Amino acid sequence: MSNIKEVKNGHLYFDGCDTVELAKEFGTPIYVYSKTDIVARIDELKECFVAPYPKNRIAYAAKAFCCMGIYKLCENEGISMDVVSGGELFTAMKAKIDPEKLEFNGNNKLPSELAAAIDYGVGRIIVDGEQELDLIEKICEEQEKTTDILIRITPCVEVDTHDYIVTGRKDSKFGLNIDPDVIFPYIKRAIDSKYVRFHGFHYHLGSQLFDNKPMLDAVDVALELMKECRERFGFAPGELNIGGGVGVTYTDEVRMPFSYFYTPILEKIAAWCEKEDYEMPAIICEPGRALVAEAGIQLYTVGMTKNIPGIRRYAAIDGGMSDNIRPALYGSVYGGVVANRVDEPADEIVTICGKCCEGDSDMIIKGGKFASPRSGDIIAVFSTGAYGYSMANNYNRNPIPGVVIVEKGEAEWLIKPQSYEHMTALDLLPEMLK
Ligand SMILES: Cc1ncc(COP(=O)(O)O)c(C=O)c1O
Repeated sequence: MSNIKEVKNGHLYFDGCDTVELAKEFGTPIYVYSKTDIVARIDELKECFVAPYPKNRIAYAAKAFCCMGIYKLCENEGISMDVVSGGELFTAMKAKIDPEKLEFNGNNKLPSELAAAIDYGVGRIIVDGEQELDLIEKICEEQEKTTDILIRITPCVEVDTHDYIVTGRKDSKFGLNIDPDVIFPYIKRAIDSKYVRFHGFHYHLGSQLFDNKPMLDAVDVALELMKECRERFGFAPGELNIGGGVGVTYTDEVRMPFSYFYTPILEKIAAWCEKEDYEMPAIICEPGRALVAEAGIQLYTVGMTKNIPGIRRYAAIDGGMSDNIRPALYGSVYGGVVANRVDEPADEIVTICGKCCEGDSDMIIKGGKFASPRSGDIIAVFSTGAYGYSMANNYNRNPIPGVVIVEKGEAEWLIKPQSYEHMTALDLLPEMLK
C-alpha cells in the first residue's frame, strides 16, 4: 500500500482517515480524494518541470476531475488549469479562479463558450480547427477585445494505449494537421491578426502513456515547426504545450516518475535551442490523470452476494457503471479491498458488480481477489480519481455520489451527493400529458 493508504485495526485508512468511519459518516457510494496525494504529485511535477525552467507552466486538465474545490487547490498550489467546455469554464469562474490561469481546449468550442472565455479573459485559447480562428476574431471584434492563442497540431506520432484515448495522429478530430499547405497559411493568419496574439503550438498525444519515446519524437516535430515559422515569417513562437498523458497505476502498471518524461524532453528542447540560437520557449504540460487518479478511491457497501458454483462469485455494490463508466468504456481494470477487513487474507476470486440494469458492462472489478465480501462490507476501489466522477451519469436514475476530500485524518465534503430531487428538478409534466 502507498503511504496514504494504511491498515489499522483491520480497517483501511486513507490519508489518515478510517474509510469505514468515512462510509458511516458520509454514506456510500462515495468518492474520496486525498489532498496530501494531489499536492505531493503537483510538487513532484513542479520540481522537474518548473524549478529548472521557471517560465514553464503546469495546467491541470480539469476533465479528469472538475469541481470548484479542485480548481482552488490548483490555484493555491500555483498551477494553471486546462478547461474544455463552457461548464468547466463556468465552474472555474464560480470558484473565482484568476482567468489568466486558464487554458481553453476543445475541438468544437461553441460560439457561446468562446464568447464566455474571451469575455472572462482566459490566459490561452488553444485554437483547434480551421474555422475557429474566424470565430474567435468575430467574437473579439464584437467584444472589442483581443486574446492569446496557441494552435493545436497533430504531430502524427503513434502511441501505445487504448485506441479511444489516442489523439495526436493525423486521423484525429483534434487539431490541425501539419501539412505545409494547411498549417503555414493558418499560422500566417494568426500572426497577422489584429485580434489574437499567437504564442505557439499545442499537442496532446494520448492518455495513460508509459513510454517517453513518442513524447520525445513529438517534440522534434514541434521544434521543426517552430524553426520553420521563424524562417518563413521572422516570428519565433515562444510557447509549446506538450499536453498530458502520463500514465498511472490502476493495478500492476508501474507509474514512471514525472522526471522520466519531462527531464529528457526539457533537456532536448534546451539543447536544440542552444544549437539553433532560439530563445528557450515556455513549455506547458497538461496532466489530468497523473495528478488525481491515484489520489482518489471509491467506497461502496456490499448488498447482495451470489455464488454460482464453479462459475463465479458476485458481490453487488450500491453503485456501478453510473459512477465509474471506465470498465464499460475501455475495459479498465481496477483493484480494491474489503475496507473493514483488510487484514484478512484476500483469497477469494470475486466479481464486484454494480446495481445498474446492464450485465457485463456493469462490473467494476471482474474476478479480483477479496476477503470473501459479505452483505454490509465496505469495498474500497483504488485509483478512481480520474475520469470517474467526471464521467458519472444518472443511468437508471441513480444519483451521482458525493465527493469527500481528506487530509491527515480530517474529512470534508468537496461535492455534495445528488438527491432524487436534484435529478427530477428539471423534469416537467407538459400540458399534453396531463
Ligand atoms: C488536450 C488534452 N490535454 C490534457 C489531457 C489530459 O490527459 P491525461 O489525463 O492523460 O493526463 C487530455 C486528455 O484527454 C487532453 O485531451
